[in-house]
Amino acid sequence: MDFKTQLLPAAGLSSVAADALLVVIVGQPRPAALDKALAALLDDATKQGDFEFKAGRCLYLHRPVGVRAARLAFVAAADGSAKAFKAAVAVGLGQLKALGVAELAVASVGGEALTAAHAEALVTAASDAVYIYRHTKPSAPAAPKLASVSLLVAKPALSALGRGLRQGQAVAAGVGLARECGNRPGNHATPSHLASEAKKLAKQYGFKVEVFDRKQIEKIGMGSFLAVARGSEEPPRFIVIQYHGAAKGKAPVVLVGKGITFDSGGISLKPGAEMDEMKFDMGGAASVLGTLRAIGELQPKVNVVALIATCENMPSGRAVKPGDVVKSLSGQTIEILNTDAEGRLILCDALTYAERFKPAAVVDIATLTGACVIALGHLNSGLFSSDDTLAAELLAASRSALDPAWRMPLDEEYDEGLKSHFADMANIGSRAGGAITAAKFLQRYTAKYPWAHLDIAGTAWKSGVAKGATGRPVPLLTHFVLARAS
Ligand code: BES
Ligand code: MN
Ligand code: ZN
Repeated sequence: MDFKTQLLPAAGLSSVAADALLVVIVGQPRPAALDKALAALLDDATKQGDFEFKAGRCLYLHRPVGVRAARLAFVAAADGSAKAFKAAVAVGLGQLKALGVAELAVASVGGEALTAAHAEALVTAASDAVYIYRHTKPSAPAAPKLASVSLLVAKPALSALGRGLRQGQAVAAGVGLARECGNRPGNHATPSHLASEAKKLAKQYGFKVEVFDRKQIEKIGMGSFLAVARGSEEPPRFIVIQYHGAAKGKAPVVLVGKGITFDSGGISLKPGAEMDEMKFDMGGAASVLGTLRAIGELQPKVNVVALIATCENMPSGRAVKPGDVVKSLSGQTIEILNTDAEGRLILCDALTYAERFKPAAVVDIATLTGACVIALGHLNSGLFSSDDTLAAELLAASRSALDPAWRMPLDEEYDEGLKSHFADMANIGSRAGGAITAAKFLQRYTAKYPWAHLDIAGTAWKSGVAKGATGRPVPLLTHFVLARAS
């Protein structure tokens, strides 16, 4: 899809030439600045009770009199923010995307001047709206015809908006990759598939990539990661991608992704209901790949390393058992009391591996705990960090990217539960505060650098009628990396 800014014609919105015109209305009563023909239509609809100035309300009109565009949609926004603008655009596109619209023009009336954040929000909302999964469903509906979206602006050459559109396209490309990887079933999106996606990205953008197989992972000494992988016939992969945007000696940001391509729970088998959704348990890895794609597009002046530990968690005669003790790459031993707490077991070795890059910061991203879903629902990702500066940076990125995250605690007392009689630690604590105990486990492997952990169990995918990967938190991570560059 093509995105551009377009100068608002002197004769007003009613003279915009496009297949469809989407007008976001900010504030009430109706903004005085609205073009005459449009104002007449909106006032009449309001009087008739067909439209209300309430966030999310939408009025669609076909071939409205006095308007050049063949289709017109008004959507009320809660306020003039980029967040409200994005929500309004999403509603409008829900209405317009199914129609024969190839060229869409979008305007906002009644709010402050649009910013780069609005432009970015327009792109990400539009890209999200037109995505259709079809890799294993050839009968999926045809792609919407929408090919070009113009953001109508009052002043020419608004370079900030152009930059916002460009950044939005990079973020959207990254989100698109993460969604596609996540949606593919476990028998398609295997560890080897993620490795080949990594290689494809590396080739496209000139990244350095290394892919380690089971033997090499053994040689590195990742006994914890291997314990999870051993139950499955599907070979594990450890993927290392390096992007050099800054001086060679500059300490990199390291992103670590959990890539469980299917989490059956292992010997501590999960119940059957919704187990299919455990194909999404590689959402962390997918978001790391997606972020790298955005980075490849934008080429920020920063060094980034991506580490992806990926395997299946399966029961079998060879699978790791409750009570088994394994030795992690850090040398610390772990008593595996529950084989379903596998994410932390693969991440801890990747976190130790990260030390060799002498990182400026390490952020791991994982669909780690059901407890995080209970704590925060599906809106906020859980953010854990012992480093207040890093936490603040990630929260700022989360806000600017409209990709919400909420900081969670890491008090020392939560560590208690990880005590083991037979190893340096157990892989589970008490059920209460489960998202925090999981983070406390990871923290034991991160003493050598500033570290943060994003638990995306509630945000990486949607269940129910809209079942599918969200591509989150690619926007957050991309904004974080970009802010590190400037
Ligand atoms: N991948 C799951 C976490 C998960 C569960 C994400 C449900 C989204 C929805 C993870 O590997 C897991 O199974 N965690 C266990 C940990 C427990 C055994 C301590 C959990 O959350 O139940
Ligand atoms: Mn599990
Ligand atoms: Zn898992």
